[in-house]
Amino acid sequence: MSTMFTKRREAVASLLGPDACLLVASNNHVSRNIHHTYSFRQDSYFWYLSGFNESDSIVLIKTDKTGSLSSYLFVPPKDEHSELWDGYRAGPQGAQNDYGFDHGFNNFDADKTIPGLLAGANKVFSLIGYKEDFSQRVSSWVKEARLKDRHTAAIEHLDAGPLLSSLRRVKSDSEIDIMRKGCEISAQAHKSAMQFVTPDMNEQSLEAYYLYKFAEHGSRFPAYTPIVAGGEHACILHYVENDQILKDGDLVLVDAGGEYQYYASDITRTYPVNGKFSAEQLAIYNIVLQAQQEAIAAMKVGNHIMQPQEISERVITEGLIDLGLLTGSAEDLIAEGAHKKFYMHKVGHWIGLDTHDVGAYSDGSNFTQYEAGMVQTIEPGIYISSKSDVDDKWKGIGVRIEDNILVTVDGNENLTASAPVDPEEIEAVMAG
Ligand code: GLY
Ligand code: MN
Ligand code: MN
Repeated sequence: MSTMFTKRREAVASLLGPDACLLVASNNHVSRNIHHTYSFRQDSYFWYLSGFNESDSIVLIKTDKTGSLSSYLFVPPKDEHSELWDGYRAGPQGAQNDYGFDHGFNNFDADKTIPGLLAGANKVFSLIGYKEDFSQRVSSWVKEARLKDRHTAAIEHLDAGPLLSSLRRVKSDSEIDIMRKGCEISAQAHKSAMQFVTPDMNEQSLEAYYLYKFAEHGSRFPAYTPIVAGGEHACILHYVENDQILKDGDLVLVDAGGEYQYYASDITRTYPVNGKFSAEQLAIYNIVLQAQQEAIAAMKVGNHIMQPQEISERVITEGLIDLGLLTGSAEDLIAEGAHKKFYMHKVGHWIGLDTHDVGAYSDGSNFTQYEAGMVQTIEPGIYISSKSDVDDKWKGIGVRIEDNILVTVDGNENLTASAPVDPEEIEAVMAG
């Protein structure tokens, strides 16, 4: 059986080298209240390697001295009673037949089986500092394996994080196909929401509309809790209460993206509740839009990740000077970080199986260079709270514009471009 998951296990095995093992645990159910759990969401690393959506499971990848791979999946046992109440379990046989693992085991055999599989390996990789309980189990298995095999070199226990996150940072064609579809679903939800919103609507009604639109097209869950922030709430960067009335004359900032087949989308649009930008809102909006468009243009092979950051800071600083919200030379203001009063977060982050996806931003000396297949958000913003020391007319305006950008061999592709950003287009869409 060859799937994107079996191919990944092969790619990982070649990075592990000969005589090595990798252990990665699934997520477990988390209680919400008595007898009820939060909706289960598989661990992203575990999903990346297995495509297996059950809890209480472990992936083990082992290479022999020639570097060739054996794969093991420890899973919940088949159990008629549990399956009647909680649904189908693949069991060890399903792990082999349906998920392409060489060996399937019941999870209650892990403690007695895994030390024997680790014995003889030179290196054992796991995600150190990631899941405390599982880390302790891995440490005890490694200890037991060392005692079993006194004649070979001591087993080195190493962090799998850099290896797995460097793989996850560059998306394959099949991942890009999924992300393109998921991003389109979420972008269309933003476009329809612009037509749905009206003055005096509660923020949570607008939130519910997004969730409905995501689910209707296959993104049952959002990738993160949506931010639906009317007026000055937009100046609270992680505002998630979403329970206030949207006022006529205010903007609404909506940061909402669905999760599609495990991949996140992360889109922000800011639009006028009554369908018409005021002069001040438009002036701020256009600075953010220019910063965003110029930053996106810098996301290409040959550039590094700080270039969009620096461009967004320069455009925003110059724009705020033009409006009289900052005074001084752009060069000095940028050097002293004056823009951070109004633009206090970074321009973006990797996105993939996690909204804030894994993958280094530098190798310790140099910033990461863009490669085809990397996907990053570009999301500059300007936030002017009522506490700011500025003319009253600017107070309470918060704008962010966020898209998901794929680096291609010859430039980039905006995966979320269907959500309108041009202010005239937004007004036209809202006018219906
Ligand atoms: N929605 C989370 C973020 O934009 O980073
Ligand atoms: Mn966002
Ligand atoms: Mn984001």
